[in-house]
Amino acid sequence: SEVKKIAVIAGDGIGPEVVAEAEKVLKRTEELFGYKFELERGLFGGIAIDERGTPLPQDTLEMCRNADAVLLGAVGGPKWDNNPKELRPETGLLGIRKALGLFSNIRPAVVFDCLKDASTLKPEVLEGTDLIVVRELTGGIYFGEKFRREGPQGEEAVDTCVYNVTEIERIVRQAFEVAQKRSKRLASVDKANVLETSRLWRETVNRIAPEYADVEVEHVLVDNCAMQLLRRPSSFDVIVTENMFGDILSDEAAMLTGSIGMLSSASLGEGSFGLYEPVHGSAPDIAGQGISNPIATILSVALMFRLTFGYEEAAAAIETAVKNVLDAGHRTGDIAVDKSKAIGTTAMGDLIVAAIVR
Ligand code: NAD
Ligand code: IPM
Ligand code: MN
Repeated sequence: SEVKKIAVIAGDGIGPEVVAEAEKVLKRTEELFGYKFELERGLFGGIAIDERGTPLPQDTLEMCRNADAVLLGAVGGPKWDNNPKELRPETGLLGIRKALGLFSNIRPAVVFDCLKDASTLKPEVLEGTDLIVVRELTGGIYFGEKFRREGPQGEEAVDTCVYNVTEIERIVRQAFEVAQKRSKRLASVDKANVLETSRLWRETVNRIAPEYADVEVEHVLVDNCAMQLLRRPSSFDVIVTENMFGDILSDEAAMLTGSIGMLSSASLGEGSFGLYEPVHGSAPDIAGQGISNPIATILSVALMFRLTFGYEEAAAAIETAVKNVLDAGHRTGDIAVDKSKAIGTTAMGDLIVAAIVR
């Protein structure tokens, strides 16, 4: 069958640990399903700053442009936290998303039944929770003009939040399309009671909603949404929101599932190309100990199969393998109720790989 090129970017902290487990999954699906993957590796993030003097080297970006999909670990860490903006790992992450036109970030938060007791919330509240945050990824306050200046009362810092109607329309349309394939409920989250960008957002949603008449739209203010996510998580289906709200709400949604180590993501543009990464970061507090949860990254491979390659059967096989391993009681420390029985990153990866069946 056709060879798929995957750019693999391990990054910093736990990035290389979790990506190594995802690579085992790629290899196993080649054996089981007859796929052919050509993996290319690139430097990115803090390690690229150290070795190449920039978080996003040109050759890494070219490698991604020439690939069918990108698999990314995570970037960042205390070593680079006081660097100037151009020499920050996070600047590289924003740069790669922008350069590749990845304006849409899909973040599913699915509560596995057997993990209901791993969450800090009551199990009966979590029952049936299965939602997707569709986060706008290349606009808003992350990408607006930023600067420092001397003001009358000392130094000032400015971050501007800008959205144009085209940027809003394309992400909202993607969210409507996602909702149409699910239970046809869309919550559009904004701060329209205060922010002009949110008022344009809400007007845009209302203008195009009639084109998706089968989808029921609910507007929710972001502060209320943060609260409702804990009060009635299972009532949400698809949530669409701007860049920073989506960043914050998706980490909150992670705790419904038991751990940020469970949340996968797909970053997409107009075509089938995508960048796949866990929602979590480089977790410097546990990096190098072999205890991080690789499931978020492994589930990101399943998203890559489904959304970029159209390998639905293998995507489902990976998800089923994860479910079966969790059902059998295996836990990394972040999702273990009894921490003394927790297993490590490679043990979890190996169990999942062994559980993938055709
Ligand atoms: P984080 O997500 O890295 O960690 C938050 C907490 O969750 C930590 O206690 C960590 O140990 C735990 N955690 C995260 N992933 C885990 C996993 N797979 N298994 C078990 N536990 C896990 O967020 P942070 O600490 O705020 O950020 C650390 C660094 O990562 C920062 O430099 C930040 O900028 C960067 N970051 C990068 C990305 C990315 O590359 N996409 C995303 C978020 C944060
Ligand atoms: C994420 C991260 C990034 C973001 C940071 C590291 C720039 O938190 O992918 O969620 O805010 O988008
Ligand atoms: Mn985040």
